[in-house]
Amino acid sequence: MPTTVSAAGLTTGHAPFVEAARDRGELYISQPYEQYSDQNHASWHKLFTRMQPRWERYANDHFLHGIDVLDLPNDRVPRLSDVNVHLQPLTGFQAKPVSGYVPGFIFFDCLKRREFPTTITIRPPDRLDYLPEPDIFHDVAGHVPMHTERWFADTLVRFGDFAYTAAEITADIADPTERARRLTSLMRAMSRFFWFTVEFGLMRGRGPNGICAYGSGLLSSYGEFEHAIESDEVQRYPLQLEGVINQVAEIDHYQPILFVVDSFDHLFGLVDEFERWMRQGKLFNVAPGLPDISESDLRSFLNAAR
Ligand SMILES: [Fe+2]
Repeated sequence: MPTTVSAAGLTTGHAPFVEAARDRGELYISQPYEQYSDQNHASWHKLFTRMQPRWERYANDHFLHGIDVLDLPNDRVPRLSDVNVHLQPLTGFQAKPVSGYVPGFIFFDCLKRREFPTTITIRPPDRLDYLPEPDIFHDVAGHVPMHTERWFADTLVRFGDFAYTAAEITADIADPTERARRLTSLMRAMSRFFWFTVEFGLMRGRGPNGICAYGSGLLSSYGEFEHAIESDEVQRYPLQLEGVINQVAEIDHYQPILFVVDSFDHLFGLVDEFERWMRQGKLFNVAPGLPDISESDLRSFLNAAR
């Protein structure tokens, strides 16, 4: 590998190794660990150590246990192969390095196989507080510790099942416009359910006011984590499917509305209800609005049904 590539590091928005893989159309890649720069490791160290007191205060117990059993380093970017050695025996999940955005159906299909598409780049040092796209801190420090919990891991697998169900129950609709409309509504419902649980979920339990977080978008965000649990401005409701599937999911500011589950087996119970609602046709007309469903995401579902 030329030294110029090594010197560039694996920084989000500036990672020649990842950009070259993307140009070649490669989604699944390796983690070229030696390419992380000192600055990349320093970013991980800062992100990790400043989150530790907040995790202790606001994270659910299973997340804290996950951080321990995965033995995540605090001073350098973790090697995914090391993380997987600890993770796989627990729930069968593995972090799988990817070059960037994974189209909807393919993402959910990975979850069904207990593979979590994982970004290997890390945010630049001047953007530690907020990055709209995922990076390895969000994916590995935010998501992966939750994959050590059995009910949560099984919930992710069921999201993979939803994707197959959505493709299956729309496959025979003859009118292509109506088929795309129904599929878009199902995908919107799935995305919102994922967003308000896996990414931004709250749970009853330890923490101030008896609330803690299990959503990875909160567990990896220094500012929003505290705001989500402590701020009076946030509306927090017991999670009911009808609320979540119709709730607009905005990505560019702190979430004003969050949903609280009782436990991970409570969450897993809702998953069965979601599947039932899909098959009954209840989710063909969810409220319009964010998230937008992109052409490539829709195509990934349409292709899956062929
Ligand atoms: Fe995420």
